[in-house]
Amino acid sequence: MKWISREDMEKKQEASAAEIKEALDFCAGQVTAGLDLFTWEFPMAYSENGFYKAMDNRDWTTGFWTGEIWLAYEHTRDRRLLEAGEIQMESFLKRIEEQRDVETHDLGFLYSLSCVAGYKLTGSILGRRAALLAADKLITRFHEKGNFIQAWGELGAPDNYRLIIDCLLNLPLLYWASEETGRAIYREIAQKHTRTTLDHVIRPDYSTWHTFFFNQDTGEADHGATSQGCRDGSAWARGQAWGIYGTAIGYRYTKREEYISVFKGVADYYLRHLPEDLVPFWDLEFGDGDQEPRDSSSASIAACGMLLMAEYLAAEEAGYYTGAAKKMLKSLIDNYRVKSREESNGLVLHSTYCNSSPYNTCIEKGVDQCNIWGDYFYMEALTRLSREWEMYW
Ligand code: GLY
Repeated sequence: MKWISREDMEKKQEASAAEIKEALDFCAGQVTAGLDLFTWEFPMAYSENGFYKAMDNRDWTTGFWTGEIWLAYEHTRDRRLLEAGEIQMESFLKRIEEQRDVETHDLGFLYSLSCVAGYKLTGSILGRRAALLAADKLITRFHEKGNFIQAWGELGAPDNYRLIIDCLLNLPLLYWASEETGRAIYREIAQKHTRTTLDHVIRPDYSTWHTFFFNQDTGEADHGATSQGCRDGSAWARGQAWGIYGTAIGYRYTKREEYISVFKGVADYYLRHLPEDLVPFWDLEFGDGDQEPRDSSSASIAACGMLLMAEYLAAEEAGYYTGAAKKMLKSLIDNYRVKSREESNGLVLHSTYCNSSPYNTCIEKGVDQCNIWGDYFYMEALTRLSREWEMYW
């Protein structure tokens, strides 16, 4: 059997409260120890031989580290973390003011976890200003022709006239901006983009396309394609997880019933395609017996989505998804987490950023390493299981 059966899944153990606490304590300690290297600079997207190097504030991933700082601060109330978070928000304000490396849809990933989070936790006016500037920038990527936010590249470039499933996690910045300013435009764009995404990236069996192209002249749907999945038509493990968390977040902000059924479809497809230890390979096509790298970050993202959606479901279904999330967490804690500073300066091993295959278009990097978002979502999932938590998204 390539994937775990429902019966075997039911027998799996859930992470206990004590295991979750111990794991979160370790994360907070690891993040605090990381401040020496990563206060004025940021960890790169992926580790090399288990260790992140420092870089300046660029790329789509730096907000995850600031998010880890905020989660660690909430857990410990250590002032060093608060001060580091404030320094990093200044860096994010500068980045958007100078328009440095902001020609991307990933502004939500960058600014929700750094500046919206800092604003929610500390009332930082600087954080609010930076996040609103980022929201203004993000909506410039919306195309009326096709009703979507363009993911990558020069706006309107024919070879990039597409959305990607990951963008569902950029939308909370827009919902937040509408709540904060009273201006409907951000929310309207978020809702249109979500509708377009769900109409096209979800296949009839609830597996998902990574990216989807539109006709630039007419706006009509054109075709799906993968970039980071194993092949067109397969389900990239992290893309499926973005779909799970993205639909849960969409429901959280809109309360649209149809998002619940999409959530259940993509989540159940995911759970039916997990290997025995509940942490997927980089593409859900692979299972036990395949010599392929894992993507532990996918498990953490999916767990966060299931825990969020469980807040809105009836008891039995909520219990099912919460149980699944706790079982994935148990495996991450037992088999994937970093156990000492000597082993790594990250939090979770065996994540995969881009694994190239003959049938995809990505450049190989960060395979079987720590990835900074994998660390963040693992910490977020542990936080969600520890107490009531106001999300940064
Ligand atoms: N959002 C880019 C990735 O998941 O690799």
